Amino acid sequence: MLRIIVSILGVLGIVQVQATPQTIKLESKLATRDTSIKRRALNPTTYLSEHVNSLLVGTPPQTVSVVFDTGSSTLEFASTLCPTCASQVQFDSTKSSTFRDGGSTRTITFSTGVGVDPVVGNNYQLTLRSATDTVSVGGLTAPGVSLFLITKQTPTFNIDPFSGIQGMSTSAQGFFASLVNQGLPSLFSLYLTPLAVGNAEMTIGGIDSTKFTGTPVFASLAATTAAWQLNSPGLSVNGKTNSLLSQPRRIIFDSGTSNVLFPINVTEAIYALISPDIKPNPDEPGTYGIACNRISSLPAVIDITFTSQSGTPFNLTIPSSELSVGPFASDPSTCQTLINGFNGLNLVGGSLLKHWYSIWDVGGQRMGFAPARL
Ligand SMILES: *[C@@H]1O[C@H](CO)[C@@H](O)[C@H](O)[C@H]1NC(C)=O
Ligand SMILES: *[C@@H]1O[C@H](CO)[C@@H](O)[C@H](O)[C@H]1NC(C)=O
Repeated sequence: MLRIIVSILGVLGIVQVQATPQTIKLESKLATRDTSIKRRALNPTTYLSEHVNSLLVGTPPQTVSVVFDTGSSTLEFASTLCPTCASQVQFDSTKSSTFRDGGSTRTITFSTGVGVDPVVGNNYQLTLRSATDTVSVGGLTAPGVSLFLITKQTPTFNIDPFSGIQGMSTSAQGFFASLVNQGLPSLFSLYLTPLAVGNAEMTIGGIDSTKFTGTPVFASLAATTAAWQLNSPGLSVNGKTNSLLSQPRRIIFDSGTSNVLFPINVTEAIYALISPDIKPNPDEPGTYGIACNRISSLPAVIDITFTSQSGTPFNLTIPSSELSVGPFASDPSTCQTLINGFNGLNLVGGSLLKHWYSIWDVGGQRMGFAPARL
């Protein structure tokens, strides 16, 4: 769930307690249909919306479900101060003895692509109140974590099957940074599986070597920005490439997004190598689709090449099974394909990360990958 435009910095709480790595289970949740907002008729066997987990916030602890999102930086969730958050579980700060109001409020407006929907105009708006409180997950506890209470949100958030977001960008603020200050190794790992496999997990401060095969290969981050991004010398589709696809590009890895975004010309060049019958859907600009009864027989292997820290090329492959993200709500005989066209972004999310165990090494400013053991 990369947010285009916004970034807010938090203040960290620092404590002297030893923290050890913990693995937590991530639950897969599909967004429910909301007739007021255009959504896909989701196919739950092939499509995974968001991996969600519960944080415990406050004293006594209140459960807040969040998406661990490598595309953003802060912890934000719905609160009882938010009259427009009625469809989410709301945190009640008046019931927490460790809650401290931070005294500043700001409103942010941004575009984002929720689930497999296209990135649309600036129609997401949140009003956020700064605060600190104790936060725990999976036995790890951090006091005085910088967070933001959502006090107002636009109806575009109503469909979210969770209350908020825990940013896990390269700058690792808030909860994760607080744990690193307690001595936790400065990395986390994700095992995001297809819905049919389940058992998705995140290991905070470590690597779960039972969840992949072989030895992870590491690549250095392309830039010191908040986004997790790697340089790619090119990509191939079904073993073929062309002059546009073999150009170098910087690719963002975003665990809070289900599908893939490329500029429109790259998107269309990839689809041309899969089937000439994959066409834009004019009802939802940025999306593409093809007849559902043809989609499962189409080979659509996308190999994205990267370069390891020792200079060796390696591919991260998206298998053909990811081609369909389910039928369009407006036309159920046409299935949406996994890449949305959006000029200015090269971004991969769940459709790749479900097949590759991923290591997000904040301290080493690098990412590691190994084939997920599914
Ligand atoms: C990556 O995939 C392409 C296309 O299938 C292939 O030609 C190339 O040899 C692969 N590279 C590696 C390092 O496996
Ligand atoms: C592809 O589109 C991008 C984004 O609009 C543009 O910057 C680039 O020049 C285009 N490349 C080609 C080869 O047309």
